[in-house]
Amino acid sequence: MKSLGIALLCLLGTLSRAQEQERLVQIEKPIPEEENPLKIFLPTYSTGDFALSASVKLNWFQAEATCASQEGYSLVTLDSPEKHERVFLFLLNSGYFNLLNEPVWTSGSNLANASQWSWFNTGAALKYRKFQTTPNSSYRCLGLARTGYWIPEDCYAQRFFVCEKRCEK
Ligand SMILES: *[C@@H]1O[C@H](CO)[C@@H](O)[C@H](O)[C@H]1NC(C)=O
Ligand SMILES: *[C@@H]1O[C@H](CO)[C@@H](O)[C@H](O)[C@H]1NC(C)=O
Repeated sequence: MKSLGIALLCLLGTLSRAQEQERLVQIEKPIPEEENPLKIFLPTYSTGDFALSASVKLNWFQAEATCASQEGYSLVTLDSPEKHERVFLFLLNSGYFNLLNEPVWTSGSNLANASQWSWFNTGAALKYRKFQTTPNSSYRCLGLARTGYWIPEDCYAQRFFVCEKRCEK
């Protein structure tokens, strides 16, 4: 009788262990992947100063986050005619210029203040401006087009993008 009792207890124990294990298996199921994970950023073309993504298109926020994940990079800033020229030459020399039939993201936006465009990279308001047309309030993130002009775009549009080292002067 006693041994039967122990056997029963053992059986119950085995059952509850099995249930416990099943529960653990359920807990340990992998967390579902996010619907839109950031892809690993491999610059398509880069120099010491700039890095171009012409393989992965991201929205402006994801692009900025992706640049930041590269040891202190940010989306590029075009805060003088000389800087604009350098970035444009970088794109021309990248070998991907013909692929850029949509503007590429820069760090410009008017997200903080709708009536003042600024560079995310430096926090400075835009002084030098090369907008193709007068910006309106519906498009708040700044793309650089192959024409050499700046085009405000929907921040959620997926675009190629250019990063630069944040501390660069
Ligand atoms: C937004 O920008 C305008 C134009 O530069 C400025 O007059 C205004 O004070 C700014 N608003 C805020 C909240 O900073
Ligand atoms: C705002 O500007 C964009 C070009 O930057 C243009 O495509 C769009 O039609 C304009 N929207 C309005 C409401 O004017």
